[in-house]
Amino acid sequence: MKQLFRTKSTESILAEHTEGGEGHGGGGLKRILNAKDLTFFGIAAILGAGSFSSLGSAIFNGGPGVVFLFIITAIACGFTAFCYSEFASRIPVAGSAYTYAYASFGELFAWIIGWALVMEYSVGNIYVSFSWSDYFTSLLHQLDIHFPAWLSTSYKEAQNGFLNQTTHAETIAAWTDAPVVGGVKCIVDLPALLINFIITFLVYKGIQESRNFSNLMVWLKMAVIALVIIAGGYLVLSKGLTHNWMPLNSNGEAHFMPNGFSGVMAAVSGVFFAYIGFDAVSVLAEESKNPQRDLPKGMIYSLVICTVVYILLTLVLSGAVPYQQFEGVGDPLAFIFEKEHLNIGWMQLVVAVAAVIAMTSVLLVFQMGQPRIWMSMSRDGLLPKVFHRIHPKYKTPSFSTILTGLVVGLPILFTDKTFVLDFTSIGTLFAFVLVCGGVLLIPARKKEPGRFHLPYINSKFIFPVLVLLSIVLVTRQNPAYWSNLTDFDFSKNSDFVAGKLSLMDLATAPISLLIFWLVMVLLSVVTFVKRFSLIPLLGISTCLYLLTGMTKTNWAWFLGWLLLGLFVYFLYGRKHSKLNRK
Ligand code: ALA
Repeated sequence: MKQLFRTKSTESILAEHTEGGEGHGGGGLKRILNAKDLTFFGIAAILGAGSFSSLGSAIFNGGPGVVFLFIITAIACGFTAFCYSEFASRIPVAGSAYTYAYASFGELFAWIIGWALVMEYSVGNIYVSFSWSDYFTSLLHQLDIHFPAWLSTSYKEAQNGFLNQTTHAETIAAWTDAPVVGGVKCIVDLPALLINFIITFLVYKGIQESRNFSNLMVWLKMAVIALVIIAGGYLVLSKGLTHNWMPLNSNGEAHFMPNGFSGVMAAVSGVFFAYIGFDAVSVLAEESKNPQRDLPKGMIYSLVICTVVYILLTLVLSGAVPYQQFEGVGDPLAFIFEKEHLNIGWMQLVVAVAAVIAMTSVLLVFQMGQPRIWMSMSRDGLLPKVFHRIHPKYKTPSFSTILTGLVVGLPILFTDKTFVLDFTSIGTLFAFVLVCGGVLLIPARKKEPGRFHLPYINSKFIFPVLVLLSIVLVTRQNPAYWSNLTDFDFSKNSDFVAGKLSLMDLATAPISLLIFWLVMVLLSVVTFVKRFSLIPLLGISTCLYLLTGMTKTNWAWFLGWLLLGLFVYFLYGRKHSKLNRK
Protein backbone atom coordinates (compact mmCIF):
# COMPACT_ATOMS: atom_id res chain seq x y z
CA MET A 1 0.00 0.00 0.00
CA LYS A 2 2.77 2.40 1.02
CA GLN A 3 4.45 1.66 -2.32
CA LEU A 4 1.53 3.16 -4.21
CA PHE A 5 2.05 6.54 -2.57
CA ARG A 6 5.84 6.55 -2.69
CA THR A 7 6.93 10.06 -3.70
CA LYS A 8 9.93 11.27 -5.63
CA SER A 9 11.71 14.00 -3.72
CA THR A 10 12.11 17.37 -5.41
CA GLU A 11 15.87 17.08 -4.84
CA SER A 12 16.09 13.75 -6.64
CA ILE A 13 14.01 15.02 -9.57
CA LEU A 14 16.28 18.04 -9.93
CA ALA A 15 19.47 15.99 -9.44
CA GLU A 16 18.52 13.64 -12.28
CA HIS A 17 18.15 16.65 -14.49
CA THR A 18 21.26 18.57 -13.56
CA GLU A 19 23.74 15.72 -13.36
CA GLY A 20 23.23 14.73 -16.97
CA GLY A 21 20.52 12.22 -16.20
CA GLU A 22 19.03 10.15 -18.97
CA GLY A 23 18.07 12.22 -21.94
CA HIS A 24 20.06 15.17 -20.69
CA GLY A 25 23.53 16.57 -20.88
CA GLY A 26 24.79 16.22 -24.41
CA GLY A 27 21.78 14.25 -25.57
CA GLY A 28 19.13 16.49 -23.93
CA LEU A 29 16.72 19.10 -25.25
CA LYS A 30 18.01 22.53 -26.32
CA ARG A 31 17.47 25.41 -23.80
CA ILE A 32 16.43 28.29 -26.02
CA LEU A 33 13.08 29.69 -24.80
CA ASN A 34 12.64 32.96 -22.82
CA ALA A 35 9.60 34.50 -21.05
CA LYS A 36 8.28 36.05 -24.23
CA ASP A 37 8.54 32.77 -26.14
CA LEU A 38 6.74 30.97 -23.31
CA THR A 39 3.94 33.55 -23.26
CA PHE A 40 3.64 33.08 -27.00
CA PHE A 41 3.47 29.33 -26.53
CA GLY A 42 0.72 29.88 -23.97
CA ILE A 43 -1.30 32.04 -26.35
CA ALA A 44 -0.56 29.64 -29.19
CA ALA A 45 -2.06 26.83 -27.10
CA ILE A 46 -5.02 28.75 -25.67
CA LEU A 47 -6.51 30.69 -28.57
CA GLY A 48 -7.83 28.15 -31.03
CA ALA A 49 -10.90 26.02 -31.52
CA GLY A 50 -12.41 27.36 -28.28
CA SER A 51 -12.62 30.93 -29.51
CA PHE A 52 -13.04 30.29 -33.21
CA SER A 53 -15.45 27.37 -32.99
CA SER A 54 -17.04 26.29 -29.68
CA LEU A 55 -17.77 29.92 -28.64
CA GLY A 56 -20.82 29.81 -30.95
CA SER A 57 -22.61 27.01 -29.12
CA ALA A 58 -21.53 28.47 -25.77
CA ILE A 59 -23.33 31.72 -26.63
CA PHE A 60 -26.33 29.79 -27.92
CA ASN A 61 -26.62 27.96 -24.59
CA GLY A 62 -25.95 30.79 -22.20
CA GLY A 63 -26.68 33.99 -24.14
CA PRO A 64 -24.52 37.07 -23.49
CA GLY A 65 -24.33 35.96 -19.83
CA VAL A 66 -21.84 33.26 -20.86
CA VAL A 67 -19.36 36.03 -20.20
CA PHE A 68 -19.82 35.17 -16.48
CA LEU A 69 -18.73 31.61 -17.19
CA PHE A 70 -15.63 32.93 -18.96
CA ILE A 71 -14.86 34.97 -15.85
CA ILE A 72 -15.48 32.07 -13.43
CA THR A 73 -13.37 29.76 -15.59
CA ALA A 74 -10.61 32.36 -15.85
CA ILE A 75 -10.57 32.61 -12.05
CA ALA A 76 -10.39 28.82 -11.74
CA CYS A 77 -7.57 28.68 -14.30
CA GLY A 78 -5.84 31.66 -12.66
CA PHE A 79 -5.67 29.93 -9.28
CA THR A 80 -4.51 26.78 -11.02
CA ALA A 81 -1.86 28.73 -12.96
CA PHE A 82 -0.49 30.01 -9.64
CA CYS A 83 -0.27 26.43 -8.38
CA TYR A 84 1.38 25.26 -11.59
CA SER A 85 3.80 28.16 -11.22
CA GLU A 86 4.70 27.19 -7.68
CA PHE A 87 5.49 23.68 -8.82
CA ALA A 88 7.26 24.84 -11.98
CA SER A 89 9.47 27.10 -9.91
CA ARG A 90 10.40 24.25 -7.55
CA ILE A 91 10.66 21.47 -10.13
CA PRO A 92 11.65 23.05 -13.44
CA VAL A 93 11.68 19.87 -15.53
CA ALA A 94 9.44 18.60 -18.34
CA GLY A 95 6.37 16.58 -17.44
CA SER A 96 3.90 19.16 -16.22
CA ALA A 97 1.31 18.14 -13.64
CA TYR A 98 2.58 14.58 -13.79
CA THR A 99 5.98 15.46 -12.34
CA TYR A 100 4.39 17.70 -9.73
CA ALA A 101 2.07 14.95 -8.54
CA TYR A 102 5.03 12.58 -8.24
CA ALA A 103 6.63 14.97 -5.77
CA SER A 104 3.47 15.55 -3.74
CA PHE A 105 0.81 12.84 -3.90
CA GLY A 106 3.07 9.96 -4.87
CA GLU A 107 3.41 7.49 -7.69
CA LEU A 108 -0.15 6.24 -8.13
CA PHE A 109 -1.62 9.74 -8.41
CA ALA A 110 1.24 10.81 -10.64
CA TRP A 111 0.41 7.96 -12.96
CA ILE A 112 -3.29 8.83 -12.88
CA ILE A 113 -2.51 12.46 -13.77
CA GLY A 114 -0.17 11.42 -16.57
CA TRP A 115 -2.96 9.19 -17.84
CA ALA A 116 -5.58 11.97 -17.55
CA LEU A 117 -3.29 14.38 -19.40
CA VAL A 118 -3.59 12.21 -22.50
CA MET A 119 -7.17 13.47 -22.53
CA GLU A 120 -6.00 17.05 -22.42
CA TYR A 121 -3.20 16.85 -24.95
CA SER A 122 -4.08 14.11 -27.41
CA VAL A 123 -7.87 14.02 -27.16
CA GLY A 124 -7.93 17.84 -27.15
CA ASN A 125 -6.02 17.79 -30.40
CA ILE A 126 -8.62 15.53 -31.98
CA TYR A 127 -11.22 18.24 -31.36
CA VAL A 128 -8.93 20.94 -32.71
CA SER A 129 -8.18 18.84 -35.81
CA PHE A 130 -11.90 18.50 -36.52
CA SER A 131 -12.42 22.26 -36.07
CA TRP A 132 -9.37 22.97 -38.23
CA SER A 133 -10.91 20.87 -40.95
CA ASP A 134 -14.24 22.75 -40.68
CA TYR A 135 -12.59 26.12 -41.20
CA PHE A 136 -10.18 24.81 -43.83
CA THR A 137 -12.98 23.45 -45.99
CA SER A 138 -15.05 26.61 -45.53
CA LEU A 139 -12.01 28.65 -46.53
CA LEU A 140 -11.70 26.54 -49.68
CA HIS A 141 -15.40 27.03 -50.24
CA GLN A 142 -14.99 30.81 -50.16
CA LEU A 143 -12.24 30.44 -52.73
CA ASP A 144 -14.71 28.43 -54.82
CA ILE A 145 -12.93 25.11 -54.27
CA HIS A 146 -15.48 22.51 -53.20
CA PHE A 147 -14.48 19.54 -51.09
CA PRO A 148 -16.90 16.57 -50.98
CA ALA A 149 -18.73 16.44 -47.66
CA TRP A 150 -18.00 12.72 -47.20
CA LEU A 151 -14.27 13.53 -47.28
CA SER A 152 -14.50 16.32 -44.69
CA THR A 153 -16.93 14.96 -42.09
CA SER A 154 -16.26 12.34 -39.44
CA TYR A 155 -18.12 9.06 -39.83
CA LYS A 156 -19.71 9.35 -36.39
CA GLU A 157 -20.93 12.89 -36.98
CA ALA A 158 -22.54 11.93 -40.28
CA GLN A 159 -24.12 8.83 -38.75
CA ASN A 160 -25.43 10.70 -35.67
CA GLY A 161 -26.71 13.48 -37.89
CA PHE A 162 -28.58 10.96 -40.03
CA LEU A 163 -30.04 9.13 -37.02
CA ASN A 164 -31.11 12.39 -35.34
CA GLN A 165 -32.56 13.78 -38.58
CA THR A 166 -30.28 16.79 -38.68
CA THR A 167 -31.11 19.75 -40.89
CA HIS A 168 -27.42 20.53 -41.44
CA ALA A 169 -27.01 20.21 -45.23
CA GLU A 170 -23.34 19.19 -45.20
CA THR A 171 -23.87 16.38 -42.72
CA ILE A 172 -26.80 15.05 -44.74
CA ALA A 173 -24.70 15.25 -47.93
CA ALA A 174 -21.85 13.36 -46.26
CA TRP A 175 -24.17 10.47 -45.39
CA THR A 176 -26.13 10.33 -48.64
CA ASP A 177 -23.28 10.96 -51.13
CA ALA A 178 -20.67 8.69 -49.56
CA PRO A 179 -19.46 5.78 -51.73
CA VAL A 180 -20.13 2.36 -50.22
CA VAL A 181 -17.35 -0.24 -50.15
CA GLY A 182 -18.14 -3.72 -48.83
CA GLY A 183 -21.38 -2.45 -47.30
CA VAL A 184 -19.59 0.32 -45.36
CA LYS A 185 -20.04 4.01 -46.13
CA CYS A 186 -16.66 5.64 -46.80
CA ILE A 187 -16.86 8.81 -44.71
CA VAL A 188 -13.65 10.28 -43.38
CA ASP A 189 -12.42 13.71 -42.29
CA LEU A 190 -9.42 13.86 -44.58
CA PRO A 191 -8.22 17.42 -43.80
CA ALA A 192 -8.22 16.56 -40.06
CA LEU A 193 -6.02 13.54 -40.76
CA LEU A 194 -3.77 15.54 -43.05
CA ILE A 195 -3.13 18.37 -40.61
CA ASN A 196 -2.32 15.84 -37.91
CA PHE A 197 0.26 14.26 -40.20
CA ILE A 198 1.88 17.63 -41.02
CA ILE A 199 2.01 18.70 -37.38
CA THR A 200 3.54 15.40 -36.29
CA PHE A 201 6.21 15.82 -38.94
CA LEU A 202 7.03 19.39 -37.80
CA VAL A 203 7.27 18.41 -34.16
CA TYR A 204 9.43 15.43 -35.02
CA LYS A 205 11.81 17.74 -36.85
CA GLY A 206 12.39 19.89 -33.79
CA ILE A 207 11.65 22.79 -31.50
CA GLN A 208 13.60 25.45 -33.44
CA GLU A 209 11.42 25.35 -36.52
CA SER A 210 8.32 24.91 -34.39
CA ARG A 211 9.09 27.96 -32.26
CA ASN A 212 9.54 30.35 -35.17
CA PHE A 213 6.48 28.97 -36.89
CA SER A 214 4.47 29.25 -33.70
CA ASN A 215 5.48 32.87 -32.91
CA LEU A 216 4.52 33.97 -36.39
CA MET A 217 1.13 32.29 -36.12
CA VAL A 218 0.45 33.88 -32.73
CA TRP A 219 1.05 37.37 -34.15
CA LEU A 220 -1.28 36.68 -37.04
CA LYS A 221 -4.14 35.29 -35.00
CA MET A 222 -3.91 38.05 -32.39
CA ALA A 223 -4.06 40.66 -35.15
CA VAL A 224 -7.18 39.12 -36.69
CA ILE A 225 -8.94 38.66 -33.34
CA ALA A 226 -8.17 42.32 -32.54
CA LEU A 227 -9.69 43.27 -35.90
CA VAL A 228 -12.85 41.26 -35.16
CA ILE A 229 -13.17 42.94 -31.75
CA ILE A 230 -12.54 46.46 -33.05
CA ALA A 231 -14.61 46.24 -36.24
CA GLY A 232 -17.39 44.16 -34.63
CA GLY A 233 -17.42 46.27 -31.47
CA TYR A 234 -17.59 49.49 -33.45
CA LEU A 235 -20.52 48.21 -35.53
CA VAL A 236 -22.41 46.90 -32.48
CA LEU A 237 -22.19 50.35 -30.88
CA SER A 238 -22.72 52.43 -34.01
CA LYS A 239 -25.65 50.34 -35.29
CA GLY A 240 -27.30 50.46 -31.86
CA LEU A 241 -27.29 46.66 -31.40
CA THR A 242 -26.54 46.71 -27.68
CA HIS A 243 -30.14 45.63 -26.96
CA ASN A 244 -28.99 42.13 -28.01
CA TRP A 245 -27.16 41.98 -24.68
CA MET A 246 -30.53 41.91 -22.90
CA PRO A 247 -32.64 39.36 -24.81
CA LEU A 248 -36.01 38.17 -23.53
CA ASN A 249 -36.13 35.09 -21.31
CA SER A 250 -38.98 32.54 -21.18
CA ASN A 251 -40.97 34.90 -18.90
CA GLY A 252 -40.67 37.68 -21.46
CA GLU A 253 -38.24 39.70 -19.31
CA ALA A 254 -35.08 41.27 -20.75
CA HIS A 255 -32.16 39.40 -19.20
CA PHE A 256 -28.37 39.13 -19.64
CA MET A 257 -28.73 35.38 -18.93
CA PRO A 258 -31.91 34.52 -20.88
CA ASN A 259 -31.65 30.79 -20.08
CA GLY A 260 -30.71 31.35 -16.46
CA PHE A 261 -27.52 30.22 -14.81
CA SER A 262 -28.18 26.60 -15.79
CA GLY A 263 -28.07 27.69 -19.44
CA VAL A 264 -24.73 29.34 -18.79
CA MET A 265 -23.39 26.22 -17.03
CA ALA A 266 -24.49 24.07 -20.00
CA ALA A 267 -21.64 25.73 -21.89
CA VAL A 268 -18.98 24.62 -19.42
CA SER A 269 -17.13 22.09 -21.64
CA GLY A 270 -16.76 24.55 -24.51
CA VAL A 271 -15.75 27.48 -22.30
CA PHE A 272 -13.27 25.48 -20.27
CA PHE A 273 -11.81 24.03 -23.44
CA ALA A 274 -11.11 27.57 -24.60
CA TYR A 275 -8.75 28.05 -21.64
CA ILE A 276 -6.90 24.77 -21.87
CA GLY A 277 -3.34 25.42 -22.90
CA PHE A 278 -1.83 27.82 -20.37
CA ASP A 279 -0.54 24.78 -18.49
CA ALA A 280 1.10 23.40 -21.64
CA VAL A 281 3.80 26.01 -21.05
CA SER A 282 5.02 23.97 -18.09
CA VAL A 283 6.05 21.04 -20.26
CA LEU A 284 8.64 23.26 -21.91
CA ALA A 285 10.67 23.58 -18.71
CA GLU A 286 13.66 21.81 -20.16
CA GLU A 287 13.72 23.99 -23.21
CA SER A 288 13.57 27.27 -21.21
CA LYS A 289 16.60 29.36 -20.36
CA ASN A 290 15.35 30.31 -16.88
CA PRO A 291 12.36 28.10 -16.09
CA GLN A 292 11.97 29.18 -12.44
CA ARG A 293 11.36 32.77 -13.40
CA ASP A 294 9.93 32.48 -16.89
CA LEU A 295 7.46 29.56 -16.73
CA PRO A 296 5.18 31.32 -14.21
CA LYS A 297 5.39 34.51 -16.26
CA GLY A 298 4.53 32.66 -19.47
CA MET A 299 1.49 30.97 -17.92
CA ILE A 300 0.05 33.97 -16.13
CA TYR A 301 0.62 36.52 -18.90
CA SER A 302 -0.93 34.28 -21.54
CA LEU A 303 -3.93 33.53 -19.32
CA VAL A 304 -4.60 37.20 -18.61
CA ILE A 305 -4.32 38.19 -22.27
CA CYS A 306 -6.66 35.41 -23.40
CA THR A 307 -9.24 36.17 -20.69
CA VAL A 308 -9.53 39.76 -21.89
CA VAL A 309 -9.84 38.50 -25.47
CA TYR A 310 -12.66 36.06 -24.56
CA ILE A 311 -14.69 38.61 -22.64
CA LEU A 312 -14.47 41.12 -25.48
CA LEU A 313 -15.20 38.49 -28.14
CA THR A 314 -18.26 37.21 -26.28
CA LEU A 315 -19.65 40.73 -25.92
CA VAL A 316 -19.02 41.55 -29.58
CA LEU A 317 -20.54 38.31 -30.87
CA SER A 318 -23.61 38.35 -28.64
CA GLY A 319 -24.13 42.02 -29.47
CA ALA A 320 -23.76 41.59 -33.21
CA VAL A 321 -26.28 38.74 -33.59
CA PRO A 322 -29.14 37.64 -31.26
CA TYR A 323 -27.85 34.69 -29.23
CA GLN A 324 -30.54 32.25 -30.48
CA GLN A 325 -29.09 32.46 -33.98
CA PHE A 326 -25.83 30.80 -32.94
CA GLU A 327 -27.43 27.33 -32.97
CA GLY A 328 -25.12 24.92 -34.79
CA VAL A 329 -22.78 27.76 -35.88
CA GLY A 330 -19.26 26.32 -36.00
CA ASP A 331 -17.58 29.46 -37.31
CA PRO A 332 -19.12 32.23 -35.12
CA LEU A 333 -16.39 34.82 -35.77
CA ALA A 334 -16.99 34.70 -39.51
CA PHE A 335 -20.77 34.28 -39.09
CA ILE A 336 -21.28 37.73 -37.53
CA PHE A 337 -19.89 39.36 -40.68
CA GLU A 338 -22.34 37.60 -43.02
CA LYS A 339 -24.65 39.65 -45.23
CA GLU A 340 -27.65 39.32 -42.91
CA HIS A 341 -25.64 40.51 -39.92
CA LEU A 342 -22.73 42.99 -39.88
CA ASN A 343 -22.24 42.51 -43.62
CA ILE A 344 -18.47 42.72 -44.25
CA GLY A 345 -17.69 40.01 -46.81
CA TRP A 346 -13.91 40.24 -46.75
CA MET A 347 -13.86 39.81 -42.97
CA GLN A 348 -15.27 36.31 -43.39
CA LEU A 349 -12.31 35.35 -45.51
CA VAL A 350 -9.80 36.98 -43.15
CA VAL A 351 -11.35 35.19 -40.17
CA ALA A 352 -11.29 31.82 -41.91
CA VAL A 353 -7.58 32.24 -42.71
CA ALA A 354 -6.86 33.29 -39.10
CA ALA A 355 -8.85 30.37 -37.71
CA VAL A 356 -6.83 27.90 -39.73
CA ILE A 357 -3.66 29.58 -38.47
CA ALA A 358 -4.84 29.74 -34.85
CA MET A 359 -5.76 26.11 -34.74
CA THR A 360 -2.53 25.05 -36.39
CA SER A 361 -0.61 26.70 -33.56
CA VAL A 362 -2.77 25.00 -30.91
CA LEU A 363 -2.18 21.65 -32.56
CA LEU A 364 1.53 22.29 -32.59
CA VAL A 365 1.83 23.11 -28.90
CA PHE A 366 -0.22 20.12 -27.74
CA GLN A 367 1.51 17.76 -30.11
CA MET A 368 4.80 18.91 -28.55
CA GLY A 369 3.47 18.58 -25.00
CA GLN A 370 2.24 15.00 -25.11
CA PRO A 371 5.57 13.33 -26.00
CA ARG A 372 7.34 15.33 -23.29
CA ILE A 373 4.97 14.03 -20.63
CA TRP A 374 5.47 10.46 -21.80
CA MET A 375 9.20 11.10 -21.83
CA SER A 376 9.12 12.02 -18.13
CA MET A 377 6.97 9.02 -17.26
CA SER A 378 9.33 6.77 -19.12
CA ARG A 379 12.39 8.20 -17.37
CA ASP A 380 10.72 7.22 -14.11
CA GLY A 381 10.26 3.68 -15.37
CA LEU A 382 6.45 3.92 -15.57
CA LEU A 383 6.52 3.55 -19.35
CA PRO A 384 8.98 1.54 -21.48
CA LYS A 385 12.38 3.14 -22.24
CA VAL A 386 11.58 3.76 -25.88
CA PHE A 387 9.26 6.61 -24.78
CA HIS A 388 12.22 8.74 -23.78
CA ARG A 389 14.44 7.98 -26.72
CA ILE A 390 15.81 11.28 -28.09
CA HIS A 391 16.46 11.64 -31.80
CA PRO A 392 20.25 12.05 -32.25
CA LYS A 393 19.90 14.75 -34.90
CA TYR A 394 16.65 16.59 -34.14
CA LYS A 395 16.93 16.26 -30.33
CA THR A 396 13.22 15.50 -29.98
CA PRO A 397 11.51 12.51 -28.32
CA SER A 398 11.10 10.63 -31.58
CA PHE A 399 9.08 7.53 -30.68
CA SER A 400 6.70 9.43 -28.39
CA THR A 401 6.14 12.06 -31.07
CA ILE A 402 5.14 9.49 -33.66
CA LEU A 403 2.95 7.67 -31.17
CA THR A 404 1.18 10.96 -30.36
CA GLY A 405 0.48 11.38 -34.07
CA LEU A 406 -1.18 7.95 -34.08
CA VAL A 407 -3.12 8.53 -30.84
CA VAL A 408 -4.57 11.73 -32.31
CA GLY A 409 -4.93 10.43 -35.86
CA LEU A 410 -6.64 7.06 -35.41
CA PRO A 411 -9.63 8.28 -33.36
CA ILE A 412 -10.29 10.92 -36.05
CA LEU A 413 -11.63 7.95 -37.99
CA PHE A 414 -14.30 6.96 -35.48
CA THR A 415 -15.12 9.77 -33.02
CA ASP A 416 -16.87 13.12 -33.31
CA LYS A 417 -16.44 16.66 -31.98
CA THR A 418 -18.98 16.63 -29.17
CA PHE A 419 -17.61 13.50 -27.61
CA VAL A 420 -13.97 14.58 -27.62
CA LEU A 421 -14.79 18.09 -26.35
CA ASP A 422 -16.49 16.78 -23.21
CA PHE A 423 -13.92 14.05 -22.68
CA THR A 424 -10.97 16.41 -22.88
CA SER A 425 -12.51 19.04 -20.56
CA ILE A 426 -13.34 16.61 -17.77
CA GLY A 427 -9.85 15.03 -17.84
CA THR A 428 -8.13 18.39 -17.75
CA LEU A 429 -10.27 19.74 -14.90
CA PHE A 430 -9.49 16.61 -12.95
CA ALA A 431 -5.74 17.13 -13.48
CA PHE A 432 -6.09 20.77 -12.37
CA VAL A 433 -7.79 19.74 -9.12
CA LEU A 434 -4.91 17.39 -8.37
CA VAL A 435 -2.28 20.04 -9.14
CA CYS A 436 -3.91 22.51 -6.73
CA GLY A 437 -4.27 19.75 -4.14
CA GLY A 438 -0.61 18.85 -4.59
CA VAL A 439 0.49 22.36 -3.62
CA LEU A 440 -1.24 21.90 -0.26
CA LEU A 441 0.89 18.86 0.42
CA ILE A 442 4.38 20.13 -0.39
CA PRO A 443 6.47 21.61 2.44
CA ALA A 444 7.01 25.38 2.76
CA ARG A 445 10.31 26.76 1.43
CA LYS A 446 12.45 29.85 1.86
CA LYS A 447 12.07 32.76 -0.55
CA GLU A 448 14.80 33.01 -3.16
CA PRO A 449 15.22 36.15 -5.27
CA GLY A 450 14.36 35.84 -8.96
CA ARG A 451 11.99 32.90 -8.42
CA PHE A 452 8.23 32.71 -8.32
CA HIS A 453 6.69 32.14 -4.89
CA LEU A 454 3.04 31.40 -4.27
CA PRO A 455 2.02 33.71 -1.42
CA TYR A 456 0.85 31.78 1.64
CA ILE A 457 -2.45 33.10 2.99
CA ASN A 458 -3.56 31.21 6.06
CA SER A 459 -7.17 30.25 5.38
CA LYS A 460 -7.98 28.62 8.73
CA PHE A 461 -10.88 31.05 9.10
CA ILE A 462 -11.18 32.63 5.65
CA PHE A 463 -12.04 29.44 3.75
CA PRO A 464 -14.72 28.09 6.12
CA VAL A 465 -16.27 31.58 6.22
CA LEU A 466 -16.24 31.77 2.42
CA VAL A 467 -17.97 28.39 2.16
CA LEU A 468 -20.55 29.42 4.75
CA LEU A 469 -21.18 32.71 2.96
CA SER A 470 -21.65 30.89 -0.36
CA ILE A 471 -24.18 28.54 1.25
CA VAL A 472 -26.09 31.49 2.73
CA LEU A 473 -25.95 33.33 -0.59
CA VAL A 474 -27.30 30.46 -2.74
CA THR A 475 -30.04 29.82 -0.17
CA ARG A 476 -31.09 33.48 -0.16
CA GLN A 477 -30.93 33.64 -3.93
CA ASN A 478 -32.99 30.51 -4.39
CA PRO A 479 -34.75 29.23 -1.26
CA ALA A 480 -35.71 26.00 -3.09
CA TYR A 481 -32.05 25.27 -3.99
CA TRP A 482 -31.42 22.55 -1.41
CA SER A 483 -34.80 20.88 -1.67
CA ASN A 484 -34.35 20.76 -5.48
CA LEU A 485 -30.99 19.07 -5.03
CA THR A 486 -32.44 16.37 -2.82
CA ASP A 487 -35.69 15.91 -4.73
CA PHE A 488 -35.28 12.77 -6.79
CA ASP A 489 -38.94 12.46 -7.71
CA PHE A 490 -38.76 13.12 -11.44
CA SER A 491 -42.31 11.98 -12.23
CA LYS A 492 -43.26 15.60 -13.00
CA ASN A 493 -40.62 15.80 -15.74
CA SER A 494 -42.36 15.19 -19.06
CA ASP A 495 -39.17 14.05 -20.87
CA PHE A 496 -38.57 11.47 -18.14
CA VAL A 497 -42.16 10.24 -18.30
CA ALA A 498 -41.91 10.01 -22.12
CA GLY A 499 -38.72 7.94 -21.75
CA LYS A 500 -36.51 10.55 -23.46
CA LEU A 501 -34.37 11.06 -20.34
CA SER A 502 -33.19 8.36 -17.97
CA LEU A 503 -33.10 8.65 -14.21
CA MET A 504 -29.32 9.00 -14.38
CA ASP A 505 -29.59 11.85 -16.90
CA LEU A 506 -31.75 13.82 -14.53
CA ALA A 507 -29.94 12.90 -11.35
CA THR A 508 -26.35 13.64 -12.43
CA ALA A 509 -26.51 17.41 -11.91
CA PRO A 510 -28.00 17.34 -8.37
CA ILE A 511 -25.74 14.48 -7.32
CA SER A 512 -22.57 16.21 -8.49
CA LEU A 513 -23.66 19.47 -6.80
CA LEU A 514 -24.42 17.62 -3.57
CA ILE A 515 -20.99 15.99 -3.69
CA PHE A 516 -19.45 19.41 -4.40
CA TRP A 517 -21.00 21.00 -1.31
CA LEU A 518 -20.10 18.02 0.82
CA VAL A 519 -16.47 18.26 -0.29
CA MET A 520 -16.50 22.01 0.46
CA VAL A 521 -17.70 21.41 4.00
CA LEU A 522 -15.13 18.66 4.56
CA LEU A 523 -12.38 20.82 3.10
CA SER A 524 -13.38 23.65 5.47
CA VAL A 525 -12.99 21.35 8.46
CA VAL A 526 -9.58 20.05 7.31
CA THR A 527 -8.47 23.61 6.50
CA PHE A 528 -9.43 24.76 9.97
CA VAL A 529 -7.16 22.10 11.45
CA LYS A 530 -4.28 22.18 8.93
CA ARG A 531 -4.28 25.92 8.10
CA PHE A 532 -4.11 25.31 4.35
CA SER A 533 -3.08 28.05 1.95
CA LEU A 534 -5.95 30.00 0.36
CA ILE A 535 -4.95 30.13 -3.34
CA PRO A 536 -4.72 26.37 -3.93
CA LEU A 537 -7.94 25.89 -1.96
CA LEU A 538 -9.75 28.35 -4.20
CA GLY A 539 -8.26 26.57 -7.22
CA ILE A 540 -9.65 23.23 -6.02
CA SER A 541 -13.06 24.74 -5.23
CA THR A 542 -13.53 26.55 -8.53
CA CYS A 543 -12.34 23.60 -10.64
CA LEU A 544 -14.59 21.22 -8.68
CA TYR A 545 -17.48 23.60 -9.27
CA LEU A 546 -16.85 23.52 -13.02
CA LEU A 547 -16.79 19.72 -12.84
CA THR A 548 -20.39 19.77 -11.57
CA GLY A 549 -21.41 20.97 -15.05
CA MET A 550 -20.32 17.68 -16.68
CA THR A 551 -22.93 15.16 -17.77
CA LYS A 552 -23.29 11.54 -16.80
CA THR A 553 -21.87 10.35 -20.13
CA ASN A 554 -18.71 12.41 -19.51
CA TRP A 555 -18.32 10.86 -16.09
CA ALA A 556 -18.88 7.35 -17.37
CA TRP A 557 -16.23 7.67 -20.08
CA PHE A 558 -13.83 9.40 -17.76
CA LEU A 559 -14.12 6.73 -15.06
CA GLY A 560 -13.68 4.03 -17.70
CA TRP A 561 -10.52 5.74 -18.90
CA LEU A 562 -9.16 5.95 -15.35
CA LEU A 563 -9.86 2.27 -14.71
CA LEU A 564 -7.98 1.36 -17.89
CA GLY A 565 -5.09 3.51 -16.65
CA LEU A 566 -5.03 1.71 -13.31
CA PHE A 567 -4.95 -1.61 -15.12
CA VAL A 568 -1.92 -0.52 -17.18
CA TYR A 569 -0.17 0.80 -14.06
CA PHE A 570 -0.52 -2.46 -12.16
CA LEU A 571 0.47 -4.43 -15.23
CA TYR A 572 3.63 -2.45 -16.03
CA GLY A 573 4.45 0.77 -14.15
CA ARG A 574 4.41 -0.50 -10.59
CA LYS A 575 6.93 -3.24 -11.35
CA HIS A 576 9.23 -1.16 -13.52
CA SER A 577 9.16 2.07 -11.51
CA LYS A 578 12.64 3.36 -10.74
CA LEU A 579 11.56 3.86 -7.14
CA ASN A 580 11.24 0.07 -6.97
CA ARG A 581 14.97 -0.29 -7.45
CA LYS A 582 16.03 2.21 -4.79
N1 ALA B 1 -7.74 26.24 -25.77
C1 ALA B 1 -7.43 25.54 -26.95
C2 ALA B 1 -8.37 25.82 -28.05
O1 ALA B 1 -9.31 26.55 -27.83
C3 ALA B 1 -7.29 24.09 -26.67
O2 ALA B 1 -8.20 25.35 -29.13
